[in-house]
Amino acid sequence: MLSILEPEQLAPSAAADAEPDGRLRDSHNRTITDLRLSVTDRCNYRCVYCRTGEDGTQYSELPIADYARILRVFVSLGIEKIRLTGGEPLLRQGLLDLIRETAQLRSDFVPSLDIALTTNGHLLAPLARPLREAGLSRITVSMDAVDSETFARITRVPGSFERVRDGIRAAQDAGLGPVKVNCVLMRGFNDSQIEAFAEFSRNEGVIVRFIEFMPLEEGRTWAPETVIPMDEIVARLNAVRPLVELPPNHLSETARRFTFDDGRGEIGIIAPVSRPFCGHCSRVRLTSDGKVRTCLFSQSDHDLVGLMQRGASDDDMRSWIRRVVERKEARHHIGEPGFLKPSRSMVHIGG
Ligand code: GTP
Ligand code: 5AD
Ligand code: SF4
Repeated sequence: MLSILEPEQLAPSAAADAEPDGRLRDSHNRTITDLRLSVTDRCNYRCVYCRTGEDGTQYSELPIADYARILRVFVSLGIEKIRLTGGEPLLRQGLLDLIRETAQLRSDFVPSLDIALTTNGHLLAPLARPLREAGLSRITVSMDAVDSETFARITRVPGSFERVRDGIRAAQDAGLGPVKVNCVLMRGFNDSQIEAFAEFSRNEGVIVRFIEFMPLEEGRTWAPETVIPMDEIVARLNAVRPLVELPPNHLSETARRFTFDDGRGEIGIIAPVSRPFCGHCSRVRLTSDGKVRTCLFSQSDHDLVGLMQRGASDDDMRSWIRRVVERKEARHHIGEPGFLKPSRSMVHIGG
């Protein structure tokens, strides 16, 4: 896909250069503080809501040194939170080196730099401690059922539930908590699990986050009827025990937060379909092949690695990133007439 901004268009942007604090801002007056980097588009699961059953995909990754340079440039532009994703990031050779280098940016730029990772958890148990020691702040595990059979049906990998549960426990022991567990709810696949997940949060001390299913899959699984809307999730949980809403941690938080009336367990509900949160979006993404995506639902991406390979300096990269971010989309259009699926599926964009 062709980038909208070729290097010859690198003339400084008046609007961007006028920002007094040097941070990234878009034309909708949102400050961008959150970068999500996919370090591979390979995955060892083939979850039904994400992948088709076939494996015909071409994979594409950059050298670790390129990701490290890109992260450094973004952090110098005011990024405070980095989330490493995939595909499955724990499959990526050199991941610990990348985390070590990223953690170094705390002393160089942002002491409180938050470095998080989203994983399917399959390879997590032996890696939890090394990840922590390399400088990872916290971890999120994607887990779409707490019943072994349902889980294997979703991931298409037998025995996966036990491995992921052990990975979660290892992450807690390694100090990577509070661990968040992301569950994408789909009617007819795992909606029977809502109550069991509430128990799981209460018993295991994890934050369970239910996510409304979005049209980001490789195949054509999504339909409006497959989405379990937030109101329905809240009603189901209230029937287990009365829910109490918790205040947001920050303005651009994706999840509405709840606990139960006895204070045990924490539930987040991420409702991009029934309650879009685009107005406070603080995120940009970098795909594993080095393209910037300004929205999950972007129709094109911007070739940052191409710019690097043509010899751009860090300053060139900064000006280019400012201009790309300025044009960030206002919002997604899920459910509206004429909605177009994004140009890449979730396994390439990285959650
Ligand atoms: P923390 O709050 O920092 O833990 O991270 P987060 O809320 O960004 O959570 P996480 O990365 O685990 O994202 C959870 C899910 O929310 C993703 O897998 C997506 O399904 C959804 N999500 C995250 N960011 C966006 C976004 O920018 N737009 C939309 N529409 N959905 C998002
Ligand atoms: N809708 C919502 N969330 C999704 N994820 C993957 N595909 C979708 C989708 N279509 C979530 C996974 C994981 C993260 C990487 O993205 O559950 O937590
Ligand atoms: Fe941000 Fe796009 Fe997600 Fe909306 S859909 S929250 S604009 S990334």
